[in-house]
Amino acid sequence: MDLRFKPLQLGEKFQNLDFREEDNSDPMEIDSFFKNERETYHKNNLSRVWIIREKDTPIAYFTTSMNSIEIDFLSTGEQVSDTTTKRYPAVLIGRMGVDKKYRKKGIGKKVCNFCTGLSSFIGQRIACRYIILETTLNKIPFYEKSGFIKAEKLPRKNKVWMYRKLV
Ligand SMILES: CC(C)(COP(=O)(O)OP(=O)(O)OC[C@H]1O[C@@H](n2cnc3c(N)ncnc32)[C@H](O)[C@@H]1OP(=O)(O)O)[C@@H](O)C(=O)NCCC(=O)NCCS
Repeated sequence: MDLRFKPLQLGEKFQNLDFREEDNSDPMEIDSFFKNERETYHKNNLSRVWIIREKDTPIAYFTTSMNSIEIDFLSTGEQVSDTTTKRYPAVLIGRMGVDKKYRKKGIGKKVCNFCTGLSSFIGQRIACRYIILETTLNKIPFYEKSGFIKAEKLPRKNKVWMYRKLV
């Protein structure tokens, strides 16, 4: 697959994209965000929205933004000794969706790898230790396959935080 990753261009129109779950639910608001809020978040620098195309066809998107993770969420051993800071710098993957027609072809995994590479690049220049995201319990196996670890704190409302250390 010839995948291209580019930040959203303001004014771009997208048709026939469906980021809902297989049962048409949208528990993490992946579909509704893309349809209603992407431009506002992108242009006000609340999230950077990235579009993934296969050749010229849009098939997936994700968002990133600066964030941090409380050390209480991390496994024992992740804390840096001789420091007092309670939060570590992290890039947040706020949303990620692959269009229904293109799922189970390895695109989600490639998106995770791209996000990790992008975050490492930024992290080496401005200091960032983790890449993080919040997801539903049924997505844990998907993210684990891309090297994410479930956070220690108990899930709330069927949701869980996950993190991956950047190198
Ligand atoms: C979750 C989502 C991004 C996965 O994208 P995808 O392109 O289908 O995923 P991939 O094909 O790259 O899957 C990578 C691996 O994870 C597995 N996987 C994919 N979706 C899974 C799921 N829902 N549960 C468990 N495993 C899953 C695949 O079988 C594959 O395993 P393999 O490497 O052993 O073959 C996509 O289903 C989606 O957009 N869902 C709706 C929106 C959503 O839930 N976004 C994430 C919310 S935080």
